[in-house]
Amino acid sequence: MAPPDTPRIEPLFSADEIAARVDGLAGEIARAMPGDVLVVAILKGGFVFAADLIRALNRAGMRPQVDFMTLVSYGAGTESAGKITVARDLSDDVRGRDVLLVDDILESGRTVHAARQMLLERGANSVKICMLLDKPGKRKVACDADFCGFVVADRFVVGYGLDYAHYYRDLPYIGAVETD
Ligand code: IMP
Ligand code: MG
Repeated sequence: MAPPDTPRIEPLFSADEIAARVDGLAGEIARAMPGDVLVVAILKGGFVFAADLIRALNRAGMRPQVDFMTLVSYGAGTESAGKITVARDLSDDVRGRDVLLVDDILESGRTVHAARQMLLERGANSVKICMLLDKPGKRKVACDADFCGFVVADRFVVGYGLDYAHYYRDLPYIGAVETD
C-alpha cells in the first residue's frame, strides 16, 4: 500500500543535525540527572528518538534502563483534543525511580502532562521531560520540556519517528508536510 496522496516534504533537520543535537541533549541530561535513570519512551512517536538518545546517554557516561508506554488521545481532527489513555502500560515499577520521559513532539502538552502525573502518582521520585521537538504555539496545558531538541513553527512535521497517517516514521530526517 502506497502512502496516501504523497505530499511534498520540506526538509527541516537533516540526519546529521539530529545526531549532533541528540548528543548535545545527552550532555545536558547527564549534567542534570543521576546516572541511574529510567527512560520511559512514549510510543509510537518516541521510539526512534529514544533509541538514539539512550546510546548518546551511554556515551555521556549514563547507564539508563528503558521501558515503554503506549498512550493514545481521543478527540476531534488531527489535534489531540481529548483524554489520554494507556493502550500499553510499562512493565517496570517506577516507585522511587528518577524517570526521564522521552517523546517526539510537545504540542498541546496533554500527552506528556498526563504521563508525568501518572508516573508521579505511582511513586516516581522525579520525572523530567525530554522532547525531540517543541511546537510552543499549540500549547493547551501548562507543560514544558526540561530538555528539548528543536523548537518548530506551527506546521505538521514527519520523520525520525513522527508520522503522517502512519507513514514516514522511517525517514532519517525531519521535514514539514507541504499542505498547499
Ligand atoms: P500533545 O502534546 O498531547 O498535543 O500531543 C503530541 C502528540 O501529537 C505527539 O506525540 C504526536 O504523536 C502528535 N503530533 C503533534 N504534532 C505532530 C506533528 O506535527 N507531526 C506528527 N505528530 C504530531
Ligand atoms: Mg505521540
